[in-house]
Amino acid sequence: MAQERPAAGLEPQQVQRLLLTCQEAKKSAYCPYSHFPVGAALLTRDGRIFSGCNVENACYTLGVCAERTAIQKAISEGYKDFRAIAIASDLQDDFISPCGACRQVMREFGCTWAVYMTKPDGTYMMKTVQELLPVSFGPEDLQKTQ
Ligand code: THU
Repeated sequence: MAQERPAAGLEPQQVQRLLLTCQEAKKSAYCPYSHFPVGAALLTRDGRIFSGCNVENACYTLGVCAERTAIQKAISEGYKDFRAIAIASDLQDDFISPCGACRQVMREFGCTWAVYMTKPDGTYMMKTVQELLPVSFGPEDLQKTQ
């Protein structure tokens, strides 16, 4: 893996802001098929927050997760340095955990940033992208063929 600065820990206030933002984003979820709303809030290095929700489709495979909605919103507005993402769902007893596809999309933008997996009561578990997707394939690998 290329050298990367480790993610700085977030201030408790920033964590709270992210948690509230992902819970709010969950309210916009478009999930008529799964009835499983998810919200995400993505914090950039310079302190901006992009939110996202899952957006499903009658053609089921075209549904997009909340995490990727937030990441695509940020990238499309010129932000690609991320500090953290927080995820909210209605699961009461489990921290919502990002799917494999979302982990790979997160990894595209670094391994050391933080993923806050939350419960509706505001408790959370934090892991780095590296912890969620060890021994990963990423952009640096494409440079290693010669
Ligand atoms: N979903 C997310 O948006 N993020 C996750 O972390 C897990 C799953 C969505 C995809 C689909 O719209 C619904 O939840 C059920 O899988």
